Amino acid sequence: MTIKPLIILPDPVLRQVSKPIERVDADLQRLSDDMLETMYDAPGIGLAAIQIGVPRRMLVIDLSKEGEEKQPLVFINPEIVSSSEDRSVYEEGCLSIPDYYAEVERPAKVTVKYLDREGKEQSVEADGLLATCLQHEIDHLNGVLFIDHISRLKREMVIKKFTKAAKSKAL
Ligand code: NI
Repeated sequence: MTIKPLIILPDPVLRQVSKPIERVDADLQRLSDDMLETMYDAPGIGLAAIQIGVPRRMLVIDLSKEGEEKQPLVFINPEIVSSSEDRSVYEEGCLSIPDYYAEVERPAKVTVKYLDREGKEQSVEADGLLATCLQHEIDHLNGVLFIDHISRLKREMVIKKFTKAAKSKAL
């Protein structure tokens, strides 16, 4: 397994729409392992393939707490098939927008269809943190970031800050 460099805001790669995966094979499984390794190293609780520069519809999540046994989840071609009317608010962060956090309101429950790491069709009814995390990561597959769900003023401030940081790094 290899730790991959993370794509950071405002890199336009993050705005790409990822393509569906046609075949679950050893290469794809290796990519999912690299994604998990990269996520654990960061550390984070979710990562979409585009965040390591691969525009394919795959994401990984692990919500286990520190000291607990790891619970890696791999979602291939995930699709939200239903969302609840009731909503919940979580303070979100993103490995592509390091050290920035903001409250985001989303549907409290979602049902997601996907293929697992073995390519088997699965469905999960998620609530709580898993529901929020799945929606955040599926957004990535569509080129959407959590800052797109906050006020325009706050979003512009974050983008400005990261653009400045990227420029000073380039010098
Ligand atoms: Ni993210």
